[in-house]
Amino acid sequence: MEIRKVTAVYFSPTHGTRAYAEAIAAALSAEYGRIDLTNPFTREQAHEFGADELAVIGAPVYAGRLPAVPGGLFGSLRGHGTPAVFLVSYGNRAYDDALLEEQDLCEAQGFRGVAASAWIAPHTFSAKIGAGRPDAADREKITAFAARVKALLDAGLPEGARLAVPGNRPYREAPAMPFHPEANEACIRCRRCVSACPVRAIDPAHPEATDASKCIDCLACVHACPVHARGVYHPPLAAVAAGCEAKFLTPRREPEWFFAGV
Ligand SMILES: Cc1cc2nc3c(=O)[nH]c(=O)nc-3n(C[C@H](O)[C@H](O)[C@H](O)COP(=O)(O)O)c2cc1C
Ligand code: SF4
Ligand code: SF4
Repeated sequence: MEIRKVTAVYFSPTHGTRAYAEAIAAALSAEYGRIDLTNPFTREQAHEFGADELAVIGAPVYAGRLPAVPGGLFGSLRGHGTPAVFLVSYGNRAYDDALLEEQDLCEAQGFRGVAASAWIAPHTFSAKIGAGRPDAADREKITAFAARVKALLDAGLPEGARLAVPGNRPYREAPAMPFHPEANEACIRCRRCVSACPVRAIDPAHPEATDASKCIDCLACVHACPVHARGVYHPPLAAVAAGCEAKFLTPRREPEWFFAGV
C-alpha cells in the first residue's frame, strides 16, 4: 500500500499523548503533518483524509474512557477508507475501554484500523507516576512498533483483515471528577488559561472561575498559568496526587500493541 502522507492527529492537553503520536508518526515518515485537536477551533474545522494517507490518531485515557468533549474528539475527521494507527496514553493505571472507543469512533468516521497501541505517560494528577515516559525503553518500542506498521502497509492488508483491541461494549461509565481547578488571588488576568482550555470552560471575563459543567479536569490551564494562580485547591492537588501514587505508581506498566490480521 503506497502511503502519500502521514499525519499525527491528537488531543493532548498536557502533551503526553502528543509525544507518542508525533514519535510514531516521525518513525513512519520524517515529513509527517500534525493536527492538534486539543484546540477547540481545530476540532470545529473539517479534516479530510484520502485513502492513500495514514493517520496516527491519539488521545488520553480519562477514567478508562476517552475525554468527554463537546462534539466528540474525532467528529471533525473524515476518512475515506484511510488507514489509521490508533493510540492512547495513560497514567500507569489502565486504559480499560478507551482504545476500543477510539477505534469505534474513528472507524465510524471512515478510517480503517491497521494497528493500535497503548502507551504510558506522566499522570495528569501526579508528575511522579509515569515520570520521564516515553523513556529510552519506550522509544525502542516506538521504533519497533512503527517498523511493524510499515511492514504491514508495505505487504498490504490481507482480504478481511480486522483489528481487535481490548475493551468492552457497552463502555464503562466514567465517574465525574469531584474537583476542578480555579485561580487564587495571584491571578493577573492574562487569560492564558482561557486559550489553553480545550473545552472553553473558562470565561474570559472571569478567568478565576471554572464552568464545572464543561471542565474535563485536564489541567491544561494549570500548566499554562505563568504565576501558578490556577490550581486544584479543594481538595488540594497534592492530596489527589498522593492518593493516585499510593495506587498507580507501581508496578511499571509496559506498552501494548495490536495489528490487523485475519
Ligand atoms: C480526568 C482524568 C482521568 C484519568 N484517568 C486515567 C485512567 O483511568 N487510567 C490511567 O492510567 N490514567 C488516567 N489519567 C491519566 C492520563 O491518562 C495520562 O496522564 C495521559 O497521558 C494524559 O494525556 P495528555 O498528557 O496527552 O493530556 C487520567 C487523567 C485525567 C485528567
Ligand atoms: S493564566 Fe493564571 S494568571 Fe492568567 S488569567 Fe489564568 S489564572 Fe489568571
Ligand atoms: S478548566 Fe482547566 S482543567 Fe478544566 S477543562 Fe479547562 S483547561 Fe482543563
